[in-house]
Amino acid sequence: MRLWGRATAARRRMLCLWLLLLGFALATLALSDLFNRDRSRTQQNPGPPRRPLQRFPGEPDLEVIVDSRDPALELGADLAPLKSLQEDQLLFVPSTQGTKNPPQKKGSYKVLLPGTNRDTRATAHPTHGEMGKAVVLHLEGAERDSEIAAVQKYGFNEVVSEKISLHRRLPEARHPACLGERYSESLPSASAVICFHDEAWSTLLRTVHSVLDTAPKQYLQEVLLVDDLSLHGHLKNVLSEYVSHLDGVRLIRSTRRLGVGGCRALGAARAAGEVLVFMDSHCECQKGWLEPLLERVAQDRTRVVSPIMDVIDWQTFQYNATQWPVRGVFDWKLDFHWESNPQLQDKDPESAVQSLRSPALGGGVLAIDRHFFQSVGAYDPGMLLWGEEQIELSIRVWSCGGSMEVVPCSRVAHLDHHHPPYQFPDQELLQRNKIRIADTWMDAYRKIFYRRDTLAHFIRQSESPNITERLRLKRGLGCRNFHWYLTTVYPQLYIPQDRPALSGELYNVGTGSCADYPRGQDLQDGAMSIAPCTGTGSQHCDLNSELEVRWGPMGALCFDARGERVVLSPCPRQRPTISRLRWKFIKLSGQLVHQQSQLCLEAVKEEGLPQSSPKNVSTHTGGLFLRPCNHHPRQQWHFEQLVAPKGA
Ligand SMILES: *[C@@H]1O[C@H](CO)[C@@H](O)[C@H](O)[C@H]1NC(C)=O
Ligand SMILES: *[C@@H]1O[C@H](CO)[C@@H](O)[C@H](O)[C@H]1NC(C)=O
Ligand SMILES: *[C@@H]1O[C@H](CO)[C@@H](O)[C@H](O)[C@H]1NC(C)=O
Repeated sequence: MRLWGRATAARRRMLCLWLLLLGFALATLALSDLFNRDRSRTQQNPGPPRRPLQRFPGEPDLEVIVDSRDPALELGADLAPLKSLQEDQLLFVPSTQGTKNPPQKKGSYKVLLPGTNRDTRATAHPTHGEMGKAVVLHLEGAERDSEIAAVQKYGFNEVVSEKISLHRRLPEARHPACLGERYSESLPSASAVICFHDEAWSTLLRTVHSVLDTAPKQYLQEVLLVDDLSLHGHLKNVLSEYVSHLDGVRLIRSTRRLGVGGCRALGAARAAGEVLVFMDSHCECQKGWLEPLLERVAQDRTRVVSPIMDVIDWQTFQYNATQWPVRGVFDWKLDFHWESNPQLQDKDPESAVQSLRSPALGGGVLAIDRHFFQSVGAYDPGMLLWGEEQIELSIRVWSCGGSMEVVPCSRVAHLDHHHPPYQFPDQELLQRNKIRIADTWMDAYRKIFYRRDTLAHFIRQSESPNITERLRLKRGLGCRNFHWYLTTVYPQLYIPQDRPALSGELYNVGTGSCADYPRGQDLQDGAMSIAPCTGTGSQHCDLNSELEVRWGPMGALCFDARGERVVLSPCPRQRPTISRLRWKFIKLSGQLVHQQSQLCLEAVKEEGLPQSSPKNVSTHTGGLFLRPCNHHPRQQWHFEQLVAPKGA
């Protein structure tokens, strides 16, 4: 009996175990179905989407209406036809106008309320039942080490972002004089066009709410969210549904990847406001940002304006106000920079509220009259994905009758990414976009670019961009040439002379290396080093007729001497230049002689560094020193021109 009893007990335990296992398997199946629901709709899956977990299972998806209207018919007579539109099948999610249901009342997606944190949200949905709780708990556990994963996925700490209210207010950063500014009663209406591709939920929605919370209703025509073929699950039906409850927000989805320019052009073609405000999908607006922009555009419809772009830290999401004055520029590699330029600051107290003409504007936030945008050629449809479109637009606007400026009483913060949000499918994409700019807009000056980006040069040698349409546009609009742009709009940009045998990589015979300065290192140290020659144009320098050796893509840094060290320092504007910066190249001996000291430039490898020199000066492979002239190969140099003088 006891034996039998024990056997029954064992069987019972087995049965329990099996039942448990079965239950577990069923639960797992149900869960994985939940997980996969959104994934199965997209071909590629970008990892398990976290958001849809908090949806109610079984709730019907929002109906998506295929917009069958011919987009070409909708474009007004003044609008340039956009080829990409005709090829696209547009999916429209109609905005349910006048809905009285604020999104906060819905329980089917995560809503971030001011002051709520993850824990309170996790328990805010009692109807989830046991299964839902299990999932949430599981996520809570996984979250502890998910910050790194978030940074890898998005280029910023999305875990921190999720804990911050979608309606957070930025601390006041405007100049006090701005608060007293008065704007016209009848400003034009604005359409905010926000393109996104796989943006994080919190940053995207914070951008939208920030616009809705700060832009006066009478001026904000609409917010157009344009989905540039996102793959992440949370940007699918959950977003459609969320948006359908927001007044004045429309969602447009492209079924083809358009890139920034194409995506914004699509939004522009659908916009009804008089002024387009293009905005990146990870921004937060300062109070009163819209009115100063609209005022400047209303005064002159060919004016393209940007707010001061403040910075949101990618790790902490702290808001950091940018110092005024600031303007947008680009260098000879066609890379864009915001330039803090105290020299431009007048003693005029008005300068705190006065707009500053800017040779270029970043792509983060941009306000432009809708008709002017179309008539000046929208964005170049030949540009791929992203990068460079802001420089193309800048040169075009200035050259073809418009202007650009930064408006200091308008501030919008932009989330700085740790790394680019999307990886380029191929690294040459950026070069191809640059080539389009160089060939369309830079005339003979494009050679200066190709010498500093030899990859672009070699691509250009094997293929020609089709810029027929853009050249036609340029002719049709009677645009000015690049020489005019350089002398009138951006006279501060140094124009390299790039003389044969006096420019290129500075090659040292004794070490077989090239003069180098680690890119990205700030100028506090400034010590030049030597490094293997790259052949990319990154080590390009230019000995000009002023006898300065100009360095860097701006050509704004000069070979200078600090004791026996050769360092870089900002080149002075004055002419003739200061004697400490003058060098003479003796072609016969290959010596580069510092004119003030009459010492010669010598390359010294790391192990050859004299004991007296401070250890930290050169952590690189070596350094450049001034030494009494001799004929040692370490004092023999030549300028290696990587790109034939004929140019591209
Ligand atoms: C804010 O910006 C300034 C200047 O760019 C920088 O020195 C400072 O570290 C930044 N602060 C934060 C909190 O990021
Ligand atoms: C360049 O593009 C235009 C239209 O944009 C087209 O008509 C032309 O055939 C293209 N040329 C080449 C060589 O592909
Ligand atoms: C050299 O650099 C290290 C860290 O890189 C620093 O701790 C040290 O103080 C520096 N020494 C000098 C002399 O600057």
